[in-house]
Amino acid sequence: MSTTGEKILGRLLTLGQFGHASGIYFRTPFTAAETAAVDRVREWMREAGLSVRRDAVGNVIGRVEGRDPAAKVVATGSHLDSVRDGGVFDGPLGVVAGIEAVAQLLADRGTPARPVEVIAFTGEEGSRFPMGLLGSRMMAGLLAPEEAVAILDREGVPVGEALAQAGLDPARLDRVARGDLACMVELHIEQGPLLERSGVAVGVVETIVGIHGFQAVVTGQADHAGTTPLGMRADALLGAAEIVLALPELVRPSGGVVTVGQLDVAPGSSNVVPGRVLFSVDLRHASPAELGRLAARIRGEADAIAERRGLRLEWHTRQVTTPVATDPALRARIQRAADALGFPWRSMPSGAGHDAMAIAARCPVAMIFTPCRGGFSHRPDEFADAAMIDPGFAVLKRLLADLAWE
Ligand code: GLV
Ligand code: MN
Ligand code: MN
Repeated sequence: MSTTGEKILGRLLTLGQFGHASGIYFRTPFTAAETAAVDRVREWMREAGLSVRRDAVGNVIGRVEGRDPAAKVVATGSHLDSVRDGGVFDGPLGVVAGIEAVAQLLADRGTPARPVEVIAFTGEEGSRFPMGLLGSRMMAGLLAPEEAVAILDREGVPVGEALAQAGLDPARLDRVARGDLACMVELHIEQGPLLERSGVAVGVVETIVGIHGFQAVVTGQADHAGTTPLGMRADALLGAAEIVLALPELVRPSGGVVTVGQLDVAPGSSNVVPGRVLFSVDLRHASPAELGRLAARIRGEADAIAERRGLRLEWHTRQVTTPVATDPALRARIQRAADALGFPWRSMPSGAGHDAMAIAARCPVAMIFTPCRGGFSHRPDEFADAAMIDPGFAVLKRLLADLAWE
C-alpha cells in the first residue's frame, strides 16, 4: 500500500513539470508556469473539499468553514515559486501536504470547529521581483499596495503590470491584508543537513533568521584594456572583488552567513576595463542586534576599500527582515504531536526565510521541518523521499486536528 508521502511526492513531481520553459526549473510569479501550477493546486484543493479563491496579489486560498462562524482561521501552507534552477520541494511541499492533511481530516472527522485554510503564497523567493515574501508580506499588511505595484523586475516590468497580465486586479490589492488569522503552521524541507545527519525525523523551528539584502554599485572608469597602464585604472571589478572576498571574513566570527549571488560587470567586454559593477549581498543572522552590527560593519569596510581604490560605492537596500521567533505554545503542541506519534524531533533554527516570518506580524506561527537528501536545496537535486516526508506530514495533520477540530 502506498503511503501519503508517496502521494505527496507524486504531486510535487507533477507541479515540478510547470516551470521548465527555459530548460531549467524556474517558476516565478505571474508567469504561465505559475498559472499552470496554480490551476493544478486549485483542482487538488477542490477535490479535497475546499472552496478556492485567489487574492489580488496571487495567493491561492483553499478554505473550509468551521462550525463556529466567528472563529479565526487556522492556516497552513507555503509558496509555489522557485529560485532559478532550484528544486521542486522548497515551498510546494507545504502546500501539497497541507491540502492532503485537510482532505484526510475532513474525511476522518467531518466539519472542523474552526475555519481552516491552505494557502499557496506567491513570490516567496524574490527571484523575479527583488523582494522576497511578496504574497505573505501583503497578506500580513507589511507592504503597502502602492509600494508593491511599483517594484520592478530585471526587465523593468512593475508588479502592477505583471499582475494585470496574469489576470489579477491591482486595484484590489488593499483587500489582501488579513485580520482574521488565528495561527499559521508551515511544513517545509529543512534545506540543510542537520535532521538527516542526526537521524531525526522532525524539526521544530525556534527562530527564522533575519535577512538584510542589498545591492552594491561600484563605479570606476571604463578604459582601454590594452593602452591604460595598470597604475592608471579605476577598475570597478577589482574593487568589487576585494569587497566580496572581505565579506565572509567579516561575518564568520558572528556565526552568521553572507552571500554574493549576483554580479553584473559593465560594459562587459573582454577588452574594456570594467567601469561599473553591480552585486547583491545577502546577509543573515538569527540575532537582530548582530544583524544590524554586521550590516554597518560591512558597509563601513566596503566604503574604505572603495575609497582606497578611487571608486564610488552606492548601496541600495532591497529587503530587510528581522529574525522571527516561532510561538512557544505552538512549538509545544508540535512536540507533543511528534511524541504521541513516536517520531524523534529536535528544535532548530531556520537559516532560510519563509512565508511564516511575514505572517508572524499578524498571528502566532510555527514551522515543521522534514529532512531532505544531503541537506541540498536551491539546487536541482533537492529531494525528499516518501519516508522523509511521512513523519512531518503526520505531525502537521495531528497539529491541524488539534488546532481546528478539537
Ligand atoms: C528563501 O528560500 C530564502 O531563504 O532566501
Ligand atoms: Mn527557497
Ligand atoms: Mn521555501
